[in-house]
Amino acid sequence: MSLKAIGKSHAKIILIGEHSVVYGQPAIALPITSVNMQALVQPIEHGRLIQSKYFIGAIKRVPSNLLGTKRLIQKILRAFHQTQAAFKITVTSTIPSERGMGSSAATAIAVTRALYHYFHQPLSHSQLLKVSNIEEKITHGNPSGIDAATAGSKLPIYFVPGKTIQSIPINLNGSLVIADSGIKGRTDIAVNSVHQEIINHRPAGPQLIQHLGKLVVSVKQALRDNQIEPLGRAMNQAQGDLAQLGVSTDQLNHLIRTARQNGAYGAKLTGSGLGGCIIALTPNQKAPLIANALLKAGAVNTWIQPFHVNGGAHHEV
Ligand code: MEV
Repeated sequence: MSLKAIGKSHAKIILIGEHSVVYGQPAIALPITSVNMQALVQPIEHGRLIQSKYFIGAIKRVPSNLLGTKRLIQKILRAFHQTQAAFKITVTSTIPSERGMGSSAATAIAVTRALYHYFHQPLSHSQLLKVSNIEEKITHGNPSGIDAATAGSKLPIYFVPGKTIQSIPINLNGSLVIADSGIKGRTDIAVNSVHQEIINHRPAGPQLIQHLGKLVVSVKQALRDNQIEPLGRAMNQAQGDLAQLGVSTDQLNHLIRTARQNGAYGAKLTGSGLGGCIIALTPNQKAPLIANALLKAGAVNTWIQPFHVNGGAHHEV
């Protein structure tokens, strides 16, 4: 046991492929390392406490939105035969919760890293993702695993559930503007409503899912070859598919329209939708102007994330 241990993680943005990834299609997600989270574990005299923005108190009494985190902690303690250990976990974060930026997965990654470190246990990357998914399964019901994979990666990833997590080469001269609608979006509810849509509207629903998968493959190439306009068009098409699947809202549509009218190459919702954030692909110089227009149109916060060039690497899961 250490005197104290820290685990870190960060926000994620799904560039393209949310929802269809739940049905086995690929998706591309980007880590947003400037928006981040830290879990600090320290010994105390008795009990097991957690302190976060949402709750301060005994881990066993957390509210329902932290149930996944509680189960995750309990499982780790059982695995290490440490169910009687006395400690406090302090979670500090700049990731807004329930806005499609992967706050729950980031919590799971940071807490897992911190507890493994605290109890001096080795933690491989695949084990980190497996353990973190204990929380995601409880919080989201049927997670594809992309949120945890991105919260635990420093590089953009091409993700095929259960098959591939590949860090991809990016050579794109442009920026993403992320805008928070200020409205909470519950991933479990959005995933269930898409599921209903697919069951009720055959063959149109499954066709939308397949089309989203095809767009993801074209986006992978556009990112590699600096094809910013095709990338923007693919984002717009994905937004059309997601709207038909029923997860866009008036407020998201309004922000998306604002970004496009102010010079974005493309814009779409990101994450589960029904609230949460939108992303807009912009020329680097125009990003601050578009961010401002989005704030005027009602966004409660914006972030600018330039695309960085990276080499890419590959591993299978
Ligand atoms: C949520 O960030 C992304 C979804 O595709 C759900 C998932 O992949 O688990 C909506």
